[in-house]
Amino acid sequence: MDKKITIAIDGFSSTGKSTLAKQLANYLGYVYVDTGAMYRAVAFFAMQNELISTEFFDKESLIKSLPSIKLQFKFNADLGFAEMYLNDVNVETEIRTIEVSRFVSKVAEVSEVRAKLVEQQKEMGKDKAIVMDGRDIGTVVFPEAELKIFMTSSAITRAKRRYDELVAKGDDVTFEEVLKNVEERDYIDTNREDSPLVMANDAVEIDNSYLNRKEQFDVVLELVNDTTKSI
Ligand code: DC
Repeated sequence: MDKKITIAIDGFSSTGKSTLAKQLANYLGYVYVDTGAMYRAVAFFAMQNELISTEFFDKESLIKSLPSIKLQFKFNADLGFAEMYLNDVNVETEIRTIEVSRFVSKVAEVSEVRAKLVEQQKEMGKDKAIVMDGRDIGTVVFPEAELKIFMTSSAITRAKRRYDELVAKGDDVTFEEVLKNVEERDYIDTNREDSPLVMANDAVEIDNSYLNRKEQFDVVLELVNDTTKSI
């Protein structure tokens, strides 16, 4: 399998996109990019600078601050994946909290934020051999990607997965809170004006409600093999 391709993985939150993308990138020796982490880091920046709360969102100040937001992925060999750095500080843990999840969709609605991140994402993928996951990878970032996957599963299944992850990390959350957050994010992500979450016409849909990780990986690997053979 020597031909290098671009693999775009989009879909709803907590469908296991990043687990699959990471597994695939490690197997293929490709770079993995979690674009959700970039939106989360910008939301975390907005929270740290008191630009967003449950009562208000100072969008204009966030837009003005964009040039001073530096986002980088640095590979951690012990973990086997790249961690997110915001202005040279490792924020990998901080960006995964339910607080950040509460605000991130609002931040991701801002076109100026999207334009900055999309530009950086395109640059990261210019040499192919990349697996990128997010919401608009197959439609906006890499519309020319050779393989596009769109992942779905029921909101309940996804909330259960997310709840288990948060509890395992020691977060004090209820299942209802997590389900509400998943449904709210689905709503905002699919209804925003700029780059709403939508399946690309040429994407392959995978509903993993009833697939375990290995089955899902095998299905996608077959698609990768078929794609590399056909180009
Ligand atoms: O994949 P995630 O749940 O970590 O993403 C966090 C949020 O970022 C999600 O609510 C939608 C947004 N996002 C986006 O708008 N576009 C992307 N390419 C990736 C994420």
